[in-house]
Amino acid sequence: MPVIQVQGLTKAYRTYKKQPGFVGAIQGLFHREYETLLAANDVTFSVNEGELVGFLGPNGAGKTTTLKMLAGLLYPTRGTAQVLGYVPWERKDGYRRQFALLLGQKNQLWWDLPARESLELNSKIYGISGAVFERTVSEMTELLDVKDKLNVMVRELSLGERMKMELIAALLHQPKVLFLDEPTIGLDVVSQKKVREFLQHHNSTRKTTILLTSHYMADIQALCQRVIIIDRGTVFFDGRLAEVLDRFADFKVVTIQCAGGGSCSAADLTKYGEVVEQTPASIRLKVKRDRVIPVCKALLDELPVSDIDIQEVPIEDIIRQIFAR
Ligand SMILES: Nc1ncnc2c1ncn2[C@@H]1O[C@H](COP(=O)(O)OP(=O)(O)O)[C@@H](O)[C@H]1O
Ligand SMILES: [Mg+2]
Repeated sequence: MPVIQVQGLTKAYRTYKKQPGFVGAIQGLFHREYETLLAANDVTFSVNEGELVGFLGPNGAGKTTTLKMLAGLLYPTRGTAQVLGYVPWERKDGYRRQFALLLGQKNQLWWDLPARESLELNSKIYGISGAVFERTVSEMTELLDVKDKLNVMVRELSLGERMKMELIAALLHQPKVLFLDEPTIGLDVVSQKKVREFLQHHNSTRKTTILLTSHYMADIQALCQRVIIIDRGTVFFDGRLAEVLDRFADFKVVTIQCAGGGSCSAADLTKYGEVVEQTPASIRLKVKRDRVIPVCKALLDELPVSDIDIQEVPIEDIIRQIFAR
């Protein structure tokens, strides 16, 4: 029996279509024209207990809308969903106690309190005992490396520190299902990695079911075996991440810096891959995934390389590439 079951979930937004210019604005006072936008369109999927699924798609694809429906914050226009046997938008107390939604671009903590007190307030809302609160906060602040930040006012925390506290707040009541919407957005790479490791640990030790959206390929690759890709409200891929990468992201981006002015420009690089960018001092190449190691070796032999960097093609690019087909 799946933990999350979504069938034909659809959300239509009716938006007022603005006419251009002053005359348009005046006309708009009398006859408004509306447009219907299907932010989620017949979304169907299911997730089993303990799965950590990446929910991907370009901006405006409908990810947040879908997560908000699953968290009971929005009523769907059509379709059904059950999470842990509950219909989310019925907002039963039993459901509220078993899931959490973290919106990376919104803050849920009280800004004018020290982090600890803000967490305490959250725990009171869920009726968590003092002992459980202390144990959970102590364990999680240790794992996330923010133990020494508990007495800092939330508004004075860095973005990364605040997001870690938000995550702790979301997990205080030990939810069985976790919806994470861009939990690492805007964080520095060190914090991103910490959060990622924490989620991995949490998922594997507690069997928490997690649906995660992220713009960062590193998050998705580290955490998710399965991804659901959505575009314009519609799911068009649901399967293993490895399959997406094999099918759509068969390149990596290799960037080299050359020592000595102008020494990069001489080489003929087309035999190694597609040259994306070339300056006298640096080259960026798109190289077939399985040829990255031999190509790097050859480049090091051939050129006075002072630095080399290998990156995944950004997930946005992969998704764009998928849509271009
Ligand atoms: N409250 C709203 N009213 C009207 N349109 C909305 C509203 N919220 C989101 N949308 C639109 O619905 C679409 C999906 O948005 P969203 O779910 O936030 O996408 P994502 O999270 O994948 O970036 C977008 O086109 C967005 O502009
Ligand atoms: Mg979103």
